[in-house]
Amino acid sequence: MVDLRHHGDVEARGMLDLAVNVYDGPRPPWLDAALRSSLGEVGAYPDPSAARAAVAAHHGRAEEEVLVTAGAAEAFTLVARLRPWRRPVVVHPQFTEPHAALEQAGHEVTAVLLPEPFTLDPALVPDDADLVVVGNPTNPTGVLHPAVTLGALRRPGRLVVVDEAFMDCVPGEPESLAGVPLEGVVVLRSLTKHWGIPGIRAGYVVGDPDAVAGMALAQTPWSVGTTAAAAVVACTSHEAAREATRRAEQIRDWREHLEKGLADLGVHHRPATASFVLAQVGGGVHAALRERRIAVRRADTFPGLDGTWIRIAVRPPDTTDELLRALRAMP
Ligand SMILES: Cc1ncc(COP(=O)(O)O)c(C=O)c1O
Repeated sequence: MVDLRHHGDVEARGMLDLAVNVYDGPRPPWLDAALRSSLGEVGAYPDPSAARAAVAAHHGRAEEEVLVTAGAAEAFTLVARLRPWRRPVVVHPQFTEPHAALEQAGHEVTAVLLPEPFTLDPALVPDDADLVVVGNPTNPTGVLHPAVTLGALRRPGRLVVVDEAFMDCVPGEPESLAGVPLEGVVVLRSLTKHWGIPGIRAGYVVGDPDAVAGMALAQTPWSVGTTAAAAVVACTSHEAAREATRRAEQIRDWREHLEKGLADLGVHHRPATASFVLAQVGGGVHAALRERRIAVRRADTFPGLDGTWIRIAVRPPDTTDELLRALRAMP
């Protein structure tokens, strides 16, 4: 079995980082101000109620449909603890942490492997699945599944978990279910990627109020710190919405530069929608790039992929060009 707990951050240390899919630009001054000002309140235990209300207002949902979490990663653990799942299914290739969290909680996970082009076919999910976890847009394939296809995964007694950690990269978020109340569906969101704050640990769950209430019971008390709660309030404000759109459009432009460069080199890659591109460069290229101090994310730890694939983070054109030059120089 592959190492499901391998992530890009360990690959990037000391290297030119095209492995970690975090927005490559400065933090907005209003976010820094909110983070700094939150330090004035860290003498008290954290209270995430303002953050919860802000998320509810942002997505047009009721507060009982929202749970603020310590990043999307915490939410995977809460899902794993929520019920004694009989047949939990994780749709791969996707971020492996939900699979790892379910196994860690003692569940036996059924992996549904989507073949290339990695589009979701609800018929591939076993009928008796009582939990289905799917990413949208999916890391690492870049596929944005239609909201109606995700809705078609619903069954009586089944919980569908849609990981939208990268949805804010998609201008207008057309296929997001965060604003759509659907019984049996919860959506996970992360502030990590778009706002460049992996060290703060801020995210949230929005969805079916029964599932949200169950996840709240499973949560460690005070797990969302004061600073993370302040980040959630700041990043769901009107001011943030404008900057969120600007970033999404910039990521799209940077990604087009990368995709064009790969096409010019004749490198097979999947059409992408988020802040990374899945490319099939052939075996050995990941290691050869590391020798040149360039880190891209290895893809062989994603069930359904192998060592011929790499995942490339979207970066400003200058950085992308360094990678493209190195790829061009490969034998
Ligand atoms: C698809 C996906 N979901 C969730 C996460 C976890 O995000 P967070 O930093 O909010 O815990 C990641 C982090 O890499 C991710 O790639």
